[in-house]
Order: sequence, then structure tokens, then C-alpha cells
Amino acid sequence: MLQRLKVIVTRRLPEAVETKLETMFGAEINRSGKALPREALAAALHRCDVLACSVGDRLDTELIGQAGERLRLIANFGVGVDHIDLDAARAKGIAVTNTPDVLTDDTADIVMALILMALRRLGEGERLLRAGGWGGWKPTDFLGHGLRGKKLGIPGMGRIGQAAARRAAAFGMEIHYHNRNRLPREVETAIGARWWAELDAMLPVVDVLSVNAPYGPHTHHLIDARRLALMRRDAFLINTARGGLVDQEALIAALESGALAGAGLDVYPKEPEVDTRLIALPNVVLLPHLGSATVETRVAMGEKVVANIEAFAEGRELPDRVA
Ligand code: DGY
Repeated sequence: MLQRLKVIVTRRLPEAVETKLETMFGAEINRSGKALPREALAAALHRCDVLACSVGDRLDTELIGQAGERLRLIANFGVGVDHIDLDAARAKGIAVTNTPDVLTDDTADIVMALILMALRRLGEGERLLRAGGWGGWKPTDFLGHGLRGKKLGIPGMGRIGQAAARRAAAFGMEIHYHNRNRLPREVETAIGARWWAELDAMLPVVDVLSVNAPYGPHTHHLIDARRLALMRRDAFLINTARGGLVDQEALIAALESGALAGAGLDVYPKEPEVDTRLIALPNVVLLPHLGSATVETRVAMGEKVVANIEAFAEGRELPDRVA
């Protein structure tokens, strides 16, 4: 057992992962089922060498600045690290790791699920049936939109964007993307994707926009009121990445006024808060940040956390270092 390190885990993880963390490192696990309050997080940062955290733990400049001298690794359970101030960590010589790749397919599946739910009005249909309101098949009921031939635009064609694009192409959608750097031609050709150097130029063209860019200061409100106004009135917006990528007030205004046809969201700016105006809109599909929520993926994410801590304990290069 590599027990010389003090490892604190901020949330419950899949049982097999917890067992490994306990057996290998004698890890202390927050089994309360709730996120640690800020004071408890601050205390944990003082008394551990390694903190295994996740998206609900806001490790901002102040908290990291106050961390104890012994803290040397923040091993995040998740790929997005926008909740961790990486510059503050770097300044204190604290390494940060994440869990890339293993959640790509599951998250891309949720992009497709949201596209299908929003365009085919599946949530509306299910709610009506459960409420006992279904009167039987009618030729004009629940008419949504088919996917074949529709144009999907993806700002942020990284791993998840590409996986979503491959799925959407299999459904007959036409793929458009915006990235600072164009993908290699063979990747574009394999997906049949068209690159747009300017996001603004792509927006009026697409039927569905799936935001898959990484979130940070440079992409905060990437889709703002001005850009929403460039989209077509019959277009849908999908967000499985981070709530802050889209200006929620502007999105709600566009949806309420009919300037946008609908949306499918798995993420929100202030999770777990979900704006009641979104809940009131029938043309919006709302999921509780479950992009990576499969047994297989959550175990694989945990395995990555374990591998990063193990490499750290053995003085090896960290496999998934982001800072
Ligand atoms: C991720 O891995 O970033 C997921 O959104 C969960 O945090």
C-alpha cells in the first residue's frame, strides 16, 4: 500500500474505484453523498498531499492560494477542469490531472440523444403520456423534424465534437464545424465535415448547433445574444459541454420569443440550479449533467484518477497532466 501520501476524495466514486483508492493509498473518502462545503474543502486542501475532486468542487484562486504546503496533486475525476484555477495551482507547484478519452463516446451519445429528443419532441411526448393525456395515434400529433439532411454545426471539434459528428453523420446529418485549427483533411473527409474559419459565418447555415468547445475565460458566453441572433429561427441549440459557454439569459430570451426553435441541455451555468423559465418551456430538453454517467465510463474515469495518483506516488510522469 502506497500509504505515505494523504489522499482525500471529495465525493463518492464507483465502489470498485473507492476500494482501489483505499487499498492502494488508504484514501479518506467523503461518503456523505453531498459535495464538501467550502470550509471543509479548504480544510481538506490543508491536510492532504493529493485531492481527488470533481466538477462540483470549486477550487478557485483563494482556496488554492490557502492550500497547505503538502498539497502536490489535484486529481480531477472528469475531463473539464474549468472549476480549478490552473494558474493558481501552477503558481504553487501543484500538479493537476484529469480523465480524458474515456468519456468521449458516452458524452457524444448524449449529444445525439438530445438532438433526437429536441427535434423529435420525445420529452414532450413522454410527459404527455405519463400525465395520462395521450388520446391515441393521430396523423398530425407530435410532428417534429427528421435528422437526415439537416446541418449540424459544431463549435469545438475536439474528441467529443468529432465523436458526435461521426454519430450524426451516420444519422444522415451534414457536418459543419468551427475550430481555430482546421482538422487534418483525412479526418474531415472521413466524417464528411466542412470547416468554417469564422463561427459567425457558420451560425446562419446550421439547423442544429452542438456546442462542444472547452470552457474557460476565452470561451465564456461563446454563444451570446449576438450569435444567437445569427442563428435561424428554426434552429436548435445543444449543450453538453459547460453551461457558461452559452449566455443563458440570451438563450431563454431567444427561446421565449421564438427566435430559436428549441434546445437540449445537459449543463447549466450554476449547477445544480436550473432556471425555472427553462423548465417552463416545452421545447427545451433538460438533463441533469449525465453525459459521462454510465457504469463503464465512471469506473474508467476512476481508473484514470488511480493511475494518476499512482504515477505521482512513484515519481513517474503523470499520464493526464493538464497543469
Ligand atoms: C467532465 O468530465 O468534465 C464531465 O462534465 C463531468 O465533470
